[in-house]
Amino acid sequence: MKNVIVIGAGTMGAGIATVCAINGHKVFLIDINQDILNKSIERIKWSLESLHRKGRLKLSPDIIMNSIKTETSIENIQEHIDIVIEAVVEKSSVKKELFKILDERFDSILATNTSSIPIDEIARDLKGRKRIIGMHFFNPPTLINLVEIIPGEYTSTETIEKAMEFSRSLGMETILVKRDIPGFVVNRINLRIFDTVLTMAENGVDIEDIDSVARYRLMLPMGFFELFDFIGIDVLYNVINELNSRGFGIGDHRILREKIERGKIGMKVGEGFYRYGKSYARAVIRKRDVYGIDPLRIISVGINEASWIIRNGIASVEDVDRGQRIGMGYAAGLLEMADGYGIDNVNLILKSMNIKPDPLLEKMLDEGRFGIKNGYGFYRWPYRKVDLQGLTYERRWNHAFITFNRPERMNSLDLKAWDSIKIALSMADEDDVRCIFFSGKGRAFCTGDDIKEMYSWKNREESMSFFSHVEDAFRSLAKSDKILIALVDGYAYGGGAEMLLLFDYVISSSASEISFSEVKIGAIPPVATTLGIDMLGRKILRYAIFGDPMNAEEARGIGLVDTVVPEGQIERIYYEISRSIEDLDKNALKSIKKIVNVKKLSDDLRYSLNELIDLSTRESFKEGMRKFLER
Ligand code: NAI
Repeated sequence: MKNVIVIGAGTMGAGIATVCAINGHKVFLIDINQDILNKSIERIKWSLESLHRKGRLKLSPDIIMNSIKTETSIENIQEHIDIVIEAVVEKSSVKKELFKILDERFDSILATNTSSIPIDEIARDLKGRKRIIGMHFFNPPTLINLVEIIPGEYTSTETIEKAMEFSRSLGMETILVKRDIPGFVVNRINLRIFDTVLTMAENGVDIEDIDSVARYRLMLPMGFFELFDFIGIDVLYNVINELNSRGFGIGDHRILREKIERGKIGMKVGEGFYRYGKSYARAVIRKRDVYGIDPLRIISVGINEASWIIRNGIASVEDVDRGQRIGMGYAAGLLEMADGYGIDNVNLILKSMNIKPDPLLEKMLDEGRFGIKNGYGFYRWPYRKVDLQGLTYERRWNHAFITFNRPERMNSLDLKAWDSIKIALSMADEDDVRCIFFSGKGRAFCTGDDIKEMYSWKNREESMSFFSHVEDAFRSLAKSDKILIALVDGYAYGGGAEMLLLFDYVISSSASEISFSEVKIGAIPPVATTLGIDMLGRKILRYAIFGDPMNAEEARGIGLVDTVVPEGQIERIYYEISRSIEDLDKNALKSIKKIVNVKKLSDDLRYSLNELIDLSTRESFKEGMRKFLER
């Protein structure tokens, strides 16, 4: 047990005092007048009762309350003190004056919870400057278990260690911020991102669209504008100004000023960017079709800032991510997300925004550290690559990634390539492969059978043999107990379009073109005419008969494609899906697949393939292929 003084009984001081008392320390809570202290004690009681109801306290609220004493002056404290934590108003003059007194009066470590005043500015002129350190708690300290520890130039190693140890005694995770920079780590990164979304909103992007991307694609606990309402728009505006006065360089946002002028400063007054029925209700943010907004456009500036922090040795990769996870409640760290979306893409997006990527990001790009997709970015990820005939198999993170890889032949499949599908699927038969993505290299997803190869057949046997390999590949897709996801970005023709019917989820870029083109060469689409009809009904028949190409929206209209995303978003949604699949129960997924596959494995396929084999021996088929090859 330590004797702790907390000075300032406002929002933060009360919270810090509560956490100290909960964790068995004796607390002296100081403020300038008794009224404030009384109110603060009421708040602490309320908060303890609430934590008690949730079963989060080891001791009873009464016992904890007994270890908090209030005082209006530190002069009344006679006990030995182990640590002082200052949480008074964010005014440099007030803090400096206070620390002068503290320095004279106590020989303990003296910590400040300042969010923006340099530690050295407070410590510089004091005798005990080596005992002064920043301990930046997050609001509310009772719920967010994170402290940034910020040593100043004069702070001793012993002080750092004591501050870390004390934080741990509070059950807090710590981030050691090795240099005192404006905003420290978590807020510095946040503010870059906030700056971007505020600018987007000022340029006319709907705030609910932005927040929908935040909640449903980046999977953040709150939308950004919802968060601003929660923090208080006035508070945010002040923080931005204070950091700007230290050269941080964020825009002066009209949209914030307007809200403040109209008194709509957030949740605490019932309205900010959103309206709140009662205080501390959640904003209603409907899930929207938000593929028009690139999530990387929102977070890349934060990733860039984090890269600067890491390159300058201020905090580690792990600390940056812990900060976002614990401090901001992110489900995945920002740098984990960077690895997921791809370091190459982060670099591209920054350049498109006229922002110079940090040299660390450029170096990663040069070294080919792209992230999850090749096993190494900010972190190392499970990764293995095997080149098969006509396709590549990659084992990435929690999934397998199969790429049709005959771009020079528009990813058409010869007999070996059809076989490779089966081989790749069996390679993916590992317990921790949760889903399998299929994509195509170059301009096509997959354009089905290699017509050149088919044209070389001499007899019915060759045709039968080929189609038995095709059937094998189709059946292994239909049998797979992994979730199969197609990422169509370009042409999906013939067998490539047919395959889509065997996937569980089909995502297509808006520029893709899909066609059951078999009929154009005198053949038939065996899956579309069987399973296709079962699944999609008569809607599909028209396309199977005429072989007309569909654009992505048309394909979505008949249910062949599930989600259409703008060009350039395929890789984004790929990562988002692999993230969302991470927490799904493996056994439940398997069971779903087992049931679904019963429908996919119907005998009708055999019937239609036999029909196809018959057709393939006819002169008209040969003629169709010849014409196709001449084109
Ligand atoms: P607040 O305004 O709620 O509380 C400040 C308290 O300090 C008031 O009760 C005031 O009466 C008292 N006070 C002022 N001068 C004093 C003195 N000389 N001696 C004793 N008490 C004095 O402010 P809040 O939000 O709690 O912020 C406190 C500090 O924590 C600031 O440095 C702020 O930057 C920092 N901080 C705030 C966060 C937040 O979300 N509110 C988060 C992290 C840090």
